[in-house]
Parts: sequence; structure tokens; C-alpha cells
Amino acid sequence: MNHLLKQAFDPDEFRREGHQLVDLLASYLEDCRDNKPMHVLPPSDPDAMVGFWTKDLNNPGFNLQHFYDTLIRQANHIHHPHYMGHQVVPPAPLAALTELTEALLNNGMAIYEMGPSATAIERVVLRWLAARIGMTGQPDGILTSGGSVGNLTALLAARQVKCGYNIWDEGVRSETPLAIMVSAEAHYSIARAARIMGMGEKGLVKVPVNSRMQLDPLLLDEMLTRATGQGLKVIALVGNACSTSTGTFDPLEEMADFADKHSLWFHVDGAHGGAAAMTEKYRHLTSGIERADSVVIDFHKMMLTPALTTAVLFRNGSHSFETFAQKAAYLLEGNGQKPWFDGAGRTLECTKKMMGVKIYAMIRLYGEQLFKEYITTTFDLGHRLAEMLQQKKGFELAVQPDGNIVCFRYRPVHFMGNMNLLTATVRKKMLEDARYYVVQTSVNGHIYLRVTLMNPFSTDEHLNSMLLLVKTLAESVADTIDDKR
Ligand SMILES: Cc1ncc(COP(=O)(O)O)c(C=O)c1O
Repeated sequence: MNHLLKQAFDPDEFRREGHQLVDLLASYLEDCRDNKPMHVLPPSDPDAMVGFWTKDLNNPGFNLQHFYDTLIRQANHIHHPHYMGHQVVPPAPLAALTELTEALLNNGMAIYEMGPSATAIERVVLRWLAARIGMTGQPDGILTSGGSVGNLTALLAARQVKCGYNIWDEGVRSETPLAIMVSAEAHYSIARAARIMGMGEKGLVKVPVNSRMQLDPLLLDEMLTRATGQGLKVIALVGNACSTSTGTFDPLEEMADFADKHSLWFHVDGAHGGAAAMTEKYRHLTSGIERADSVVIDFHKMMLTPALTTAVLFRNGSHSFETFAQKAAYLLEGNGQKPWFDGAGRTLECTKKMMGVKIYAMIRLYGEQLFKEYITTTFDLGHRLAEMLQQKKGFELAVQPDGNIVCFRYRPVHFMGNMNLLTATVRKKMLEDARYYVVQTSVNGHIYLRVTLMNPFSTDEHLNSMLLLVKTLAESVADTIDDKR
């Protein structure tokens, strides 16, 4: 047999490299845990990065462990308590280890016989989650690769159920243009889903938000009447739990009432904060989520799981079959009607990763208490940061946070210049400094720094030193901002 093929599948080499890799990763985790100084976002320019790897590709000789080491050094250090950037969770290490097993076993999961245990585990995990967020009856669902695909999957089901004809087979009828009502602060994947479904820009009825950036329920009636008057058939209402930009939760209970009253499909985009429904302390934020027709929750956001792993839950489990009422003869037929276990009938994906396995392992290892503790700890941290910001002179909160997403800015004493320019400059300087990773967002046209406290080991001390850096940078550049707008 070909020597290279033998080598690529050599169990001994796998064992040797694997042991070394686990040692390397464990040391890396120790460095992060011990708050070792590092550039949490290693400074890099895209062209230089491509140049580096182009040169590397042409270098003779390759050492796998050295490669892993380089990757670690070039990575965003999500496990470091100074990482406060995007909504990407530091995965629980044993979840990552379980994912290695998923990758090696590589059961495809399009149909049951391609991944029997992973398919059954996925269902158990989904029903477990549905029960944790308070869904009763016969909920069901599917795991997908990310919240964006999840939102599309749920809204496709909404369209099929609510449009009044078999749109999957007949296609879009131009005489009844469809629309969905969403918060003006909805994640862009919702707008994208509407466009993918052929609704266009007019098919997205944006309901304005109140001063806390929550969908304003008092405007729902007016917006629906206006949309209907324009000839649109509104099929669904979408709530945020929570919004991406400021992390505020929409009034889901009132939205569920409205959806009920007008026979709309109620979808909750809980990609980031839906899992708060599991906690005693923050459950009130998600009140009403259990009444949604469909809910999306990202395990890779607030549930300690490597990306991408998203739950799409349907309160009425049979709706899980509405999305892709499509036949692929060689895969799906001959199995009787709508078998739950052939996942390809219910998701955009054909071959799919065994994504439920790592979640199952975590549930068995740590129980649901792990997720509750993680969500409560990081949400508490967001609230403490808000308190600090209110106590420190010069800091301004954009919105009182509901959870672990906090937006703020710093105004130096006597500064009369352009705050947007100042804040964007501070953020740029923070990227160059690279000891903390924070991002920026726009709230009502004003630029704010935005942190998402994803690391449960970030402490008040880390928050204080991050704020000190923001203040120092703002004061050091304030004189250079002479734009008065
Ligand atoms: C509210 C919300 N919905 C959907 C998404 C998209 O999720 P994903 O990145 O898993 O596709 C995000 C991502 O930030 C989000 O915050």
C-alpha cells in the first residue's frame, strides 16, 4: 500500500501527536487561567497574514506541533480573561475534546443509518433544552450549523405554515407579497433570511425600539396595520432574546400575545441569550420564550460549546417537518411518512456534524447546573461593569444592560469634540495595544465601545484595568480630535 496513506492513518502517530497536542493545549489553558500577559488579539494586518502563510506553504519541512504552536500564538485568546470582544464562548475544554471524537468518527447524519447514536443523542439533547426553557407539549427540533442557518430554518417553517398555500412546491406568488415583523435591532441574519425567502427589503417590517433598544410593543398594532395597508401579508413576528448590539431582551410576553391575537408565527432569536431561560436569576428576561412557535439558541454562545452548534426548537414538533418539504429520493423515501430520525428532511444541511454529542457529554459530566452557573456568572459580571461605569466619572453607559453585553464610552473632562471620532480612535488604539479585546457598536447613531463578557474568569480587577486603559487612551488622544461635530 501507498506509504503516505499508511502514514496518514497510522494509529501510533495519532497517539504520539495527540498526547503532545493535549499537553500543548493544557499549558495554553493554564497560561490563560493564570492571566499570563498576552496580546489577546495578536496585532496583524490581513496582507501580512496571507504573506506569512504563503511563505510558510513554500517552506521545506513541516512540524505539526510547531504548526499548532504558531496557530495558538496567532489566535484570538478567547480563554484569556481580557478577551471581552465578540459573542464567542471559551468552550469547556472537555467539550472540545469530545468534538475531536465527533470529528474522527465523522458519522454523517443525513439519515439515521449514517449516524444512529448521534441522531438519537441529538434528539435527546434538543428535548432536554426545550424542557429547560419551559416548552411543554411535544416540542422537537434540529441542530444546525449556526444561528444564521437556524433563523432561516425556523422562518422557512413559518412561511410554509402561515402563507396559506404550498409555497415550497408552488413558489412565491407575486400577488401576495409576504413579510415578517422584526425589531429594528434584529440580527442581520433575520433580514438575510427574509431576502433569501424572496421577501425583499419591503418584506422586513422593522418595528422601532424604545430607549432601552427593545422592540416597542405599543407600535405593533400600527406597524401591522400599515404593512397590511401596503398589501403585505405579515406571517411572522420575531423577537430578540437578546439583541446583538446592546444585549437587551425584547418584551416577549407582549409579543406572544400580539402574535396569538393576529395568528402570526412567533419566532424568538435567542441565539445569544435564550439559554438564560434556564437560570433562576435571569429567567424573567426571557419570559414568553416558551410560547414561541420556534426558538433559536446557540450552544456556541452561552452554553460553553465549540462553534458551530445551534438548536432550532419548534414548540409544535411536527412543524419541524415543514421547513424542507422536499424529497430526495435516494435519501428520504421509503422510510414511511416524516420520520424524525432522518435529519436531512429537516435541515438545510445534508451531511452534518455529530454536533449533539459534545453537549450530551457536558450534560452528563456537569449537569445543567454548569450552564446555569456560566450564564449567571457572566450576566452578573455585566451588571457589575454597569455599576462601575456609573460610579466612575466620565464614563457613559449606552443602555442599562440586561446581561453580559455592555456598551459604554468615556468622555474626558472638558472634552467638547466629536465623541464618535474619539470613541472610534480609542477602540483603534485598544486594538493596537492588544491587551484587551473590545469591539464597537452604534447605538442611535452614537459610537460606543461594546464588551461581551464571555469569560467567567474575568473579574472586577480585569474590568477595572480595562476601564483604566480606555480612560488613559481617551485622555491621550482627546487633544488630537478637533472635529467639533
Ligand atoms: C441575536 C443573534 N442572532 C443570530 C446570530 C447569528 O448566529 P451565528 O453566528 O451562530 O450564525 C447572532 C450572532 O451574533 C446573534 O447575536
